[in-house]
Amino acid sequence: MSNALKEYLSFCQTRVEHALAQRLPDANKLPQKLHQAMRYCALDGGKRMRPMLTYCTGKTLGLAPEALDGPACAVEFIHVYSLIHDDLPAMDDDDLRRGKPTCHIAFDDATAILTGDALQALAFEILAHDSSIVADAEARLKMITTLAKASGSQGMVGGQAIDLSSVGTQLSLPELENMHIHKTGALIRASVNMATLSKTDIDQTVAIKLDHYAKCIGLSFQVKDDILDEESDTATLGKTQGKDKDNDKPTYPALLGLAGAKQKAQELHEMALENLSSFGKEADLLRDLSLYIIQRNH
Ligand code: IPE
Ligand code: IPE
Ligand code: MG
Ligand code: MG
Ligand code: MG
Repeated sequence: MSNALKEYLSFCQTRVEHALAQRLPDANKLPQKLHQAMRYCALDGGKRMRPMLTYCTGKTLGLAPEALDGPACAVEFIHVYSLIHDDLPAMDDDDLRRGKPTCHIAFDDATAILTGDALQALAFEILAHDSSIVADAEARLKMITTLAKASGSQGMVGGQAIDLSSVGTQLSLPELENMHIHKTGALIRASVNMATLSKTDIDQTVAIKLDHYAKCIGLSFQVKDDILDEESDTATLGKTQGKDKDNDKPTYPALLGLAGAKQKAQELHEMALENLSSFGKEADLLRDLSLYIIQRNH
């Protein structure tokens, strides 16, 4: 990872940790178990890639991080909710997440379902009301619509439904790509678009290029996640390695082999860079981030 990216990632991680903690209900507030679970899952863990993308895109566009705290928290809360539900026995049945017992193991299944539900609602409450957002009401509405579409049946939840119904089947490459674009790509794309929507006077050709960049890294992110499930280890990942094979999931390595999956990730990185070719140095962090996504070890 470049030094510039390392520094900015650490800045964003600290910033979003504080912003998330501020926006989560106090653990002593009723219902305490639910609020404890929300804080347990959302705080102190994860790479914070989606907030990082919101802040980085904002930086490329000359926006101050202060104006992006709300949107960055909203995308992370949706992501955390998706992980909690993804880990439930009815879905991937995982007991380790971010190096800690998953929500339903640390609490119980019902609490895990409700924690996900509550985090999802909180994400939209933030976009509707958070005082960090300086954009006008119309831009807020666009952010809400964008995040809702990215999260729902035509976004992440739709992708998860395809994932679950594909267990044990052999998907074609376009089918696999479609699944990944939805289950993971949609929220990553929304994370970038939260920043472009925060800049109300944005040039539309710039917004479209950033959206295309986001589509590429959204897919490469899940391709790399599949690769790591196969070749990393549980301690490094903070989640149980090898679960995709155990659960008979359709993945890029399963379809293309590890070398083919790596080649695909590299091609997506190059496509991501092409979409930034008209940008100058101000987009270097986004370039570095795309490389990091395919080179990371967890
Ligand atoms: C894991 O996401 C689930 C996917 C969508 C691939 P991350 O790899 O971003 O998980 P955290 O947030 O760092 O824990
Ligand atoms: C999850 O994909 C995508 C989500 C929407 C949560 P995975 O099931 O591969 O994520 P991990 O490997 O459990 O983090
Ligand atoms: Mg899953
Ligand atoms: Mg999973
Ligand atoms: Mg995975």
